[in-house]
Amino acid sequence: MSHACKLAAGNWKMNGLRADLEEARALAKAYPKPDCGVLLCPPATLISAMAEALSGSAVMVGGQDCHASAAGAHTGDISARMLADSGARQVILGHSERRADHGETSTLVAAKAMAAHEAGLVSIICVGETESERDAGQTLEVVLGQLAESLPAGATAANTVVAYEPVWAIGTGRTPTLDQIAQVHDALRAQLPDKAISLLYGGSVKPGNAAEIFAIGNVDGALVGGASLKAADFGAIIAALEAA
Ligand code: PGA
Repeated sequence: MSHACKLAAGNWKMNGLRADLEEARALAKAYPKPDCGVLLCPPATLISAMAEALSGSAVMVGGQDCHASAAGAHTGDISARMLADSGARQVILGHSERRADHGETSTLVAAKAMAAHEAGLVSIICVGETESERDAGQTLEVVLGQLAESLPAGATAANTVVAYEPVWAIGTGRTPTLDQIAQVHDALRAQLPDKAISLLYGGSVKPGNAAEIFAIGNVDGALVGGASLKAADFGAIIAALEAA
């Protein structure tokens, strides 16, 4: 492990109704004083209810996206200030599903991150190669290029986390080899403007593979999708991170 802060971040994506707040409560109860940061990013509709349900606990709440502007005529969008006002402390930006479904470019991600920082939120900036880019031997070129363009000016460990998420590993049950993860994380670390920025791995992290991934030198935690929906699964991943 590096000297950066450890973080287990859960991304609920477009999943979760009010009844599912029970999972968040169960997680907070099971980990009253975790040895690492713990974050849940529910859909925007649940942020304020989850923040209320988790108030006084060690589990933080975050958003999954924000607009680059602070306010204005942008129907359906949510600003970073609104997320902060709802109780969010962090926001995931540039997730590959946003890049693919909404055509988000790295330049836009940097603008969103700037807005997030101005609102006092920590941005979790995602980068990752597609399977065809990996097969073509372009992985490092792609992720380092995305990092260079997605990090806003003034990114430090106090306001930024970076997540490496190979697109082909998300929701597929497939993961890179430990050597492949290490290679990308080493390259990302070398390019970070502040070496204390936490580097998360994401893509099919489960209770069964978390410990070996967290044993990699430049992996400071995980961004977890499917396995963050249930307190039992996410709790096992948190326990693995605490032990790393
Ligand atoms: P997964 O998703 O854990 O379901 O693969 C990870 C992510 O997209 O953040």
